[in-house]
Amino acid sequence: MTGISLKWKYIGLTFLILLCVIGGFSYYNLKYQEKLIREDDIERVRLISDIIKNGLYTIMLEGRGKEFQNFLETLIAEDIEEVRIFHPVTGEILASSVRKEIGKQIYKTDMERFKTQAFPSVFIHSKGQKTLYSMVIPIPNEKPCQRCHKDGKPIRGVLDVEVSMRKTHERITELRNRTIAFSLLTFFSLAAALAVMTTLLINKPIDRLIMTMKEVETGNLDVRFITKRRDEIRKLADSFNSMLDELKRTQEELNRCHVEEMKRIEKMATLGELASAIAHEIKNPIAGISGAMQVLVEDFEDNDPRKETIEEVLKEIDRLDKIIRDLLNFAKPVDPKVIEVDLKSIVEKSLSLVKNQAQKQNIDITFRYDESLDMLQLDPQQIQQVILNIILNAFHAMPEGGQLVIDVKKTDHHAEISISDTGVGIKQEDLKKIFRPFYTTRHSGTGLGLPISSNIIEAHGGEIKVESTPGLGSTFRIILPINKKEKEDREEI
Ligand SMILES: Nc1ncnc2c1ncn2[C@@H]1O[C@H](COP(=O)(O)OP(=O)(O)OP(=O)(O)O)[C@@H](O)[C@H]1O
Ligand SMILES: [Mg+2]
Repeated sequence: MTGISLKWKYIGLTFLILLCVIGGFSYYNLKYQEKLIREDDIERVRLISDIIKNGLYTIMLEGRGKEFQNFLETLIAEDIEEVRIFHPVTGEILASSVRKEIGKQIYKTDMERFKTQAFPSVFIHSKGQKTLYSMVIPIPNEKPCQRCHKDGKPIRGVLDVEVSMRKTHERITELRNRTIAFSLLTFFSLAAALAVMTTLLINKPIDRLIMTMKEVETGNLDVRFITKRRDEIRKLADSFNSMLDELKRTQEELNRCHVEEMKRIEKMATLGELASAIAHEIKNPIAGISGAMQVLVEDFEDNDPRKETIEEVLKEIDRLDKIIRDLLNFAKPVDPKVIEVDLKSIVEKSLSLVKNQAQKQNIDITFRYDESLDMLQLDPQQIQQVILNIILNAFHAMPEGGQLVIDVKKTDHHAEISISDTGVGIKQEDLKKIFRPFYTTRHSGTGLGLPISSNIIEAHGGEIKVESTPGLGSTFRIILPINKKEKEDREEI
């Protein structure tokens, strides 16, 4: 699965945040600067208008009223578009910087503004393609004026000043361009710096770590992640390296155990082969000796003391015979002859075989059976052999008597026969040894009972589990699939 890499996610997110912060801040700053420029220009228009008004007063007071027109014409500089004086009542243009306007009617908007405004203020209006600042200022008939103008009219005329907004637009456009350029420069330099920093500080070490991990995946546990840094990457490297040390140590330990186990298995296999070859060779002579002894014993009187000795010899021959049978049994492959059987009858048959022994040893037996358990596909002889072996082992573990509980029940997909005793128990370290061939703690045991049992149960698709507490007793659980055929089908799927 390949998604967006951590590096690109981080860079992408950082770029987005930068874009929002720088963009937002620049936009706010731009708007604020534009407002300041406009306020500045409005103040400038007000100042220009005042200067013109004062100029007009001076000319009037000096009695040079005829120079009005010339004065207005000289005012047309760079951004002063037009200056005119119109009549406060009729709206007729009395004087204008554009001479041909004289005698014409003033614009309606200017007239309306003059009539409605409480105080003269700068306003913006469009004239053709142009946008202009405009100010309409009444010229009052003040005392000094009344020396010549004695008609008592309060307003002598209205001054109308129009200033071009071209410079304002130019300043705003320049400001906008500069702000955009500066923002982009800031954004790209910060973004580039962040990308380089992310790559150097985070991405590169992560890439190296991934490469080291890949090397480990190929089986090389000698590789290490070396870094000179003293930050979190160093901590990561240290943890990673100590994990590798531990892994290497465990692998070496595992290899050592594996080699030992292989050696042991090889030895056991050779021993097993040897034992079964010997068993084959001595099986027939022993049968001969046993037959001869049986014939011999019949020749003695019942009270003859030699008869007892020969019976002892016969017992030992029986034991030898059992060992040989077990050896041969262990050596040959398990091939269960399965038929449909119920576990209840198998356990009952096994118990009937040990009933006398149990009584002799003062062992109390409890048998519980889950009636919901169906018939199973098993080799009854082999399963009986296993149950008998485990029961007899339990008996051997309870020489002074005790409790034996056999519980047959149904679990999810299995049948479980648990056999618990209150015997001597098995030490934790010996638990893994008891399934090994020839492991026995009994003088007369061969140590083949449990290995043979385990082979049989495995051949049935099941397993044997053991739990034991030394001094308290042991529980052996034989777990069998409920329907071997069904299980095989499931495994194939
Ligand atoms: N219920 C049990 N309680 C205590 N120890 C047990 C129990 N069952 C098995 N063992 C231990 O496991 C060993 C191996 O058992 P296993 O049946 O393989 O061989 P064995 O009983 O010694 O000889 P045999 O081959 O005659 O069965 C026993 O010698 C005993 O030490
Ligand atoms: Mg046994």
